[in-house]
Amino acid sequence: MEVIVVESAEELGRIVADAIQHMLAHQPRALLGLATGSSPLPIYDELVRRFERGELSLASAGACLLDEYLGLDADHEQLYRTFIRRVFVDRIDLDLQRLLGPDVRRADPELACREYEEQIVAAGGVDLQILGIGSDGHIGFNEPTSSLASRTRVKTLTAATRGDNARFFGGDLEQVPKHALTQGIGTILEARHLVLVAQGSGKAASVAAAVEGPLTAMVPASALQLHAHATVVIDEAAASQLTLVEYYKQTYRDKPDWQGV
Ligand code: GLP
Repeated sequence: MEVIVVESAEELGRIVADAIQHMLAHQPRALLGLATGSSPLPIYDELVRRFERGELSLASAGACLLDEYLGLDADHEQLYRTFIRRVFVDRIDLDLQRLLGPDVRRADPELACREYEEQIVAAGGVDLQILGIGSDGHIGFNEPTSSLASRTRVKTLTAATRGDNARFFGGDLEQVPKHALTQGIGTILEARHLVLVAQGSGKAASVAAAVEGPLTAMVPASALQLHAHATVVIDEAAASQLTLVEYYKQTYRDKPDWQGV
């Protein structure tokens, strides 16, 4: 996997936006996998700036959600569909009809999961999936011990994840849902390009475990080691526990111009 250490959130946003812009230039109908959390926000802001300058368009593209809370009211501002619309989709020219996500209004969530898998396949599969990482090593809401072959399904959130995400619910842990629907690790691995982003020292241990540790269900993000095209874009703080950090920096510095992210 390629590890890129950046100096700022802006640089993180630029590098990932470059990869997305390049993809859209060649495949205007690409399906872009979107992640929530704070880490991907610089990417969305940079894509919006480029859209406003007329440098890129998602008018023919599609987008899909990585995961979604279960049990929130349809008008709750922390529903991931709502969050993603607010921070990205409503600020660009993507057709809302082509924003895919699991239908959490379904009485049977497992059915919603199966239908969502079918929707992704029908849309041609995910071309580039943006991922964050939990402090416990999760991707999407695939918590530790998730099968590395898992498909989209309902997961129970760990106390660590609910604690991390309480900040989005006014700091009130009781308001954080206990369950979520998430693309499985097997599902995520089917995307053609995985781009994991992380910032801050709170992610240093999970990033090191994912990139340099053993492949293990205890660190779901370590599944990226199985993917032929995985890129990890992190700041210095998130990179601080990596053993080979100088090697990653040298590799990126010496990268031939013709080789994109
Ligand atoms: C949530 C999401 C994950 C995301 C994680 C990290 O748990 N389900 O997809 O990676 O948050 O969030 P942040 O980037 O805010 O640290």
